[in-house]
Amino acid sequence: MNTILVGAQWGDEGKGKIIDVLTEEADIVVRSQGGNNAGHTVEVGREKFILHLIPSGILRRNKKCVIGNGVVIDPVSLVAEIEGLEKRGIKLAGRLFISETAHLVLPYHRRLDEAREHRKGTNKIGTTKRGIGPAYGDKAARTGLRLIDLAQPKVFSAKLRERIEENNAVIESLGGEPLSFPEVEQSYLEAGKKLRPYIINTVVWLHQQDEKKKRILFEGAQGTFLDIDFGTYPYVTSSNTTAGGASTGSGIPPHRMDRVVGVMKAYTTRVGEGPLPTECAEVSDMLHAMGREFGATTGRARRCGWFDAVATRYARMVNGIDELAITNLDGLDTLRQIQVCVAYECRGKRLLYPPNDAEELLHCRPIYRKFAGWNQPTCGVRHFKKLPVAAQKYLKALAALTGAKLRIVSVGAQRKQTFEA
Ligand code: IMP
Ligand code: MG
Repeated sequence: MNTILVGAQWGDEGKGKIIDVLTEEADIVVRSQGGNNAGHTVEVGREKFILHLIPSGILRRNKKCVIGNGVVIDPVSLVAEIEGLEKRGIKLAGRLFISETAHLVLPYHRRLDEAREHRKGTNKIGTTKRGIGPAYGDKAARTGLRLIDLAQPKVFSAKLRERIEENNAVIESLGGEPLSFPEVEQSYLEAGKKLRPYIINTVVWLHQQDEKKKRILFEGAQGTFLDIDFGTYPYVTSSNTTAGGASTGSGIPPHRMDRVVGVMKAYTTRVGEGPLPTECAEVSDMLHAMGREFGATTGRARRCGWFDAVATRYARMVNGIDELAITNLDGLDTLRQIQVCVAYECRGKRLLYPPNDAEELLHCRPIYRKFAGWNQPTCGVRHFKKLPVAAQKYLKALAALTGAKLRIVSVGAQRKQTFEA
């Protein structure tokens, strides 16, 4: 049984936590896209872990984890993440496998990301400034460097020198600080040495595991509406965050995938710029006052709004979502009434799917259906049937409006605050 897990909204749906739960029934967890722009939070007992590049599955003993070819890797930050986990007693040797064809995020990618955002001014994308866009840009332009290069210091240094020269010219033209080749070279070669024991041909390894009937779980990062093809372009990230990315980012073909699990919050959030039709100050203020909805990677306050079924309906379609995990139900515990967007009204037309033009999306007005709140805490609930009836109805409605089967409900950050629907 191979499973793909994706975010059905704008990222931060609670994928890290659901992956951690689903890892119980998997042998291998694979990241196939994105980079350290991701921030997956998992709380186990009193411990809180925030993972950026390493699959959340690493927190379960005996499970193996893969960083696939579709991921972009900042080796210095990956080494820091590995060492941080080791310090906390998590053993990685023999459990973490990194693709030799994954592309590198280099310091010039970060500088370019920052400089371009700065130049865009009010039209900025609101990126995480981790260099993700420029790194994928180099990959597509065939000017990227990969881990396989880093493993051969001479080859790496020659390519790096040439890339730094070219990128310094661009950085300077954008008003940024040029980079020093020897500094970058040294820190990257050092990180490369530390990563070497983990680097393999993950495509072949994964196929061998698949043949042995090992259960593989693909951990999506970001969310459907940040997908470079299906998201609210240009306010997106630079990878395919939808189900197809699991195949291209790992080498496991589509027909080997058995099911797709979509994760969505019981409301909507987005961090960064771009349209968000159901955005609502009242919902944002309520959640922020509860100390919720601050980014795990950048600490930015997330924009919040009502659940948008137009968005999740589209997410179900492009990902082929079979089962749903609904998280953060407890965020709505204090409300007497809850709204859900069931359609958009756009220039006099009723839309059931979002328009492709981000500009057009700005003109869409949500059509809401009202639901009764339950106005009592749900964080202590451990069985679906023990939820307040209004909460059960609300969850069933979200699944029905999205068009997939409700499988998992989460009422808090803790591993144990999760149950089957
Ligand atoms: P980038 O991926 O850093 O280029 O950022 C592009 C857009 O995606 C920005 O709006 C970011 O806030 C958003 N983004 C990137 N990664 C994540 C994530 O893991 N969760 C939520 N939003 C993200
Ligand atoms: Mg996150």
